[in-house]
Amino acid sequence: MAAEDKKAFGQRMNALKQSAQAKVDALKEHIGNGGQAEAAPDDPTRPARMAPVGSLHPISIVRQRIVEVFTRIGFTISQGPEVEDDHHNFGALNFAEDHPARDMQDTFFVREGTDGASPAGMALRTHTSSVQVRVMEHSRPPIRTISPGRVYRNEAISARAHCMFHQVEGLYVDRGVSFAELKGTLDHFAKSLFGPEVAIRLRPSYFPFTEPSAEVDMSCTICDGEGCTVCKYSGWVEIMGCGMVDPAVLRNCGIDPEVYSGFAFGMGVERIAQLLYRVPDLRLYWENDVRFLEQFNDGAFRS
Ligand code: PHE
Repeated sequence: MAAEDKKAFGQRMNALKQSAQAKVDALKEHIGNGGQAEAAPDDPTRPARMAPVGSLHPISIVRQRIVEVFTRIGFTISQGPEVEDDHHNFGALNFAEDHPARDMQDTFFVREGTDGASPAGMALRTHTSSVQVRVMEHSRPPIRTISPGRVYRNEAISARAHCMFHQVEGLYVDRGVSFAELKGTLDHFAKSLFGPEVAIRLRPSYFPFTEPSAEVDMSCTICDGEGCTVCKYSGWVEIMGCGMVDPAVLRNCGIDPEVYSGFAFGMGVERIAQLLYRVPDLRLYWENDVRFLEQFNDGAFRS
């Protein structure tokens, strides 16, 4: 800087310094008095307003947890189409031609298209057992797989039923697979998800594709077996169906039942989520009320 300009410039710098100091002092005093500095509207150091962050849907959280229990013990994940043919949803699974489950009351049939896009005899799958038929048709034992996915049934929507829900079904086919292994696997599943203190019990039941078949109950986690409305004062809640794969089903899928045996099980994700989170009404899952959904925000959602 030229020598003759230095004096004037120095004075201006001093004035600037004093005015800045005065502002800092004023702010310090203000803050010291418990006040807040008043920010200019374009102050880039102002804290940002946080955008609301969503969370995984409870059904997604529970489906992931179920899948994880089984993938850890060697099950693979398989998926298949939601619009399914009669063979994969019913026929191969040993449903007789006149079985009531094929009836309009349970199944959503897809109308035949004139363009050939929707061939005759198609329906929305009523369970993901259809996926297991596809797996057995296309692979050889040992088969250890679970099929998570949406299923559809023509039911009136209520607190206890919906026309669409989610299942995770499992299948294990190998030489010498036993009923004891089925029970052990399901006991491991229940304890992994609900805690080491829960117990399961199997009640004889019927499914066209398993023999013997059983309904699986778990000790009620809501009342610890004391009796409550959820377990209808029995101390037990039903969580899934299971059984040994019927030899006729193995044969239908090209697997020799003289050499191989298998077990299968299937559960509803909504039901498991209801027991984990004590959800009183199925309809809550689909109303998208954020007051319901944000209760499941455990910080796991990162994307
Ligand atoms: N597929 C049956 C259902 O949807 C469940 C099940 C699967 C039962 C496997 C037994 C064995 O209800």
